[in-house]
Amino acid sequence: MCGIVAYLGEQDALPIILKGLRRLEYRGYDSAGVALIRDNNLLVYKKKGKVADLETHLEDKVKTGSIGMGHTRWATHGEPNDTNAHPHYSSDNRLALIHNGIIENYATIKQELLRKGHQFLGQTDSEVLVHFIEQIQKENQCTLFEAVRIALNEVVGAYAIVVMSADDPNQLLAARKSSPLVIGIGKENKEFWLASDATPIIEYTNEVVYLDDLQIAVMQKGNLEIKDIRASLSNVVNIPYIQHLDLTLEAIEKGGFDSFMLKEIFEQPESVRNCLRGRLIADKLHLQLGGITTHIDKLLNAKRIVILGCGTSWHAGLVAEYIFEELARIPVEVEYASEFRYRNPIIEAEDAVIAISQSGETADTLAAIELAKSKGATIFGVCNVVGSSISRATHEGAYTHAGPEIGVASTKAFTAQVTVLLMMALIIAKKRGTIPDAQFSELLHELENIPEKIAKALQFNAQIEDIAQIYKNASNMIYLGRGFNFPVALEGALKLKEISYIHAEGYPAAEMKHGPIALIDADMPVVFIAIKDSSYEKVVSNIQEVKARKGRVIAIVTEGDTFIATMADHVIEIPSTYDVLTPLLTVIPLQLLAYHIAVMRGCNVDQPRNLAKSVTVE
Ligand code: G6P
Repeated sequence: MCGIVAYLGEQDALPIILKGLRRLEYRGYDSAGVALIRDNNLLVYKKKGKVADLETHLEDKVKTGSIGMGHTRWATHGEPNDTNAHPHYSSDNRLALIHNGIIENYATIKQELLRKGHQFLGQTDSEVLVHFIEQIQKENQCTLFEAVRIALNEVVGAYAIVVMSADDPNQLLAARKSSPLVIGIGKENKEFWLASDATPIIEYTNEVVYLDDLQIAVMQKGNLEIKDIRASLSNVVNIPYIQHLDLTLEAIEKGGFDSFMLKEIFEQPESVRNCLRGRLIADKLHLQLGGITTHIDKLLNAKRIVILGCGTSWHAGLVAEYIFEELARIPVEVEYASEFRYRNPIIEAEDAVIAISQSGETADTLAAIELAKSKGATIFGVCNVVGSSISRATHEGAYTHAGPEIGVASTKAFTAQVTVLLMMALIIAKKRGTIPDAQFSELLHELENIPEKIAKALQFNAQIEDIAQIYKNASNMIYLGRGFNFPVALEGALKLKEISYIHAEGYPAAEMKHGPIALIDADMPVVFIAIKDSSYEKVVSNIQEVKARKGRVIAIVTEGDTFIATMADHVIEIPSTYDVLTPLLTVIPLQLLAYHIAVMRGCNVDQPRNLAKSVTVE
């Protein structure tokens, strides 16, 4: 969390930085700030609130130069206020620093610095770090680079930092450990853009370098040097590995929609199509994931598959559990990455681990991967962000190719994750001979049709908006589903609570009678996923149980189902498909329902309170 952006070059830095901060605001929006250099002085402007508040605060008072950096914060240490906002100054105001991550041993360092006479304005770990660098430089009479390097060898924790010095107005220093940092490279190294992800960079250049853990980049006009933080490797010159990104600016803008979330919901026919592109040709029975070939035997022969993820990615993992066990007949366990990493999990070399992450930066998932790796397991990644830390930490993997997801609540990433996991399961099932050829062929053809069916499901948008109008003032909602659609019920409830702040619970429909049924009365809306699959009859009974207690039922049904309409208060149709593919369709109305309710309640759907898109803290 927290967004970092910086620029060094020939243009006016401030507009580039502010635009970059707006693109990164999904990473945190508790405060925003910029640092610029003018007349050899470092100027820091910062404000509690969003980037728009910072812009109002800046008004016309800033004339900027061609170097600067900015930060948008998701608070960890210290409440969100102007003082705790980044950038932070050193004591003499000659250095400024922005930071994404957590310095775990900051309290010890702070004690030492207090003893040496430093005074701190706020409560952040980041302010301590810039004072620490200042102190090291003073004591060692060394270059800023050396002081940063020494300081980072002392700190415990995670960081992506950028440091600017009034004494060196043509230099940006940046370093990372466990928090992402991308450098955009201009022609002949005359310009550099730095950011937490590529979205603020892409409109200027497609040539980027992803900084690796424990690397420091020194940028001066015309020159980029990447060095190692560790003293033992300080003489090794790293040749920057420049990657060419295919991301387009259009893909990260709203394209006429009111919000990124709505745009991303409506993009799903296209994002799933992109996910399938080049991988699936049903008529030729061709199905291949180019990123999963070298270690495919590990998956085929796995005694067990362990799936790791957080949030919506964990829900995609739960869907995958049902899919893998159904098609490939391999036992699957799905774990919250945060739980997995803090117990003593039994992982063996014969286990295959699949780590799912939209951002590819979630700290808990990354740490869980390292733990599983240390126990000899082979790790497969399912990530959306190309070049992200998780995609690089895994042995092999398949990208979801959903395009940039900016709305904090995940939508198109979920359907793309499920699509990739389905393809993985089908490949394994075919190779293991656990599904008949005819079924394999039918599923490939149906998967090819799924984007069309998602488009059909989206056509019920207006009807869903009407239903949202009726329930927008609910205080609680229950989501129920069975089998492949139990995880979808969890995802529907998560979508509602994260963007509308209505308390919602997802449950397996049959579990209702073990607790949630006590909550049912005339004020309780219950969303049922009641499609015509193998558990249809059972779900119908569950609906009747709710109706008998006067609950209000919104049912997601298969098109043409007239029976459920006789008992439910509202029905929303989705096209019919094979059971394993239904989550790709049933989730669509649930995303739209949450979206409309949140908008009607006046909530900011793209930036729900207290949340962040990329959770790079534990
Ligand atoms: C945050 C986001 C969620 C996301 C989760 C996992 O909580 O707000 O939308 O599902 O992190 O993120 P990942 O990038 O690992 O999928």
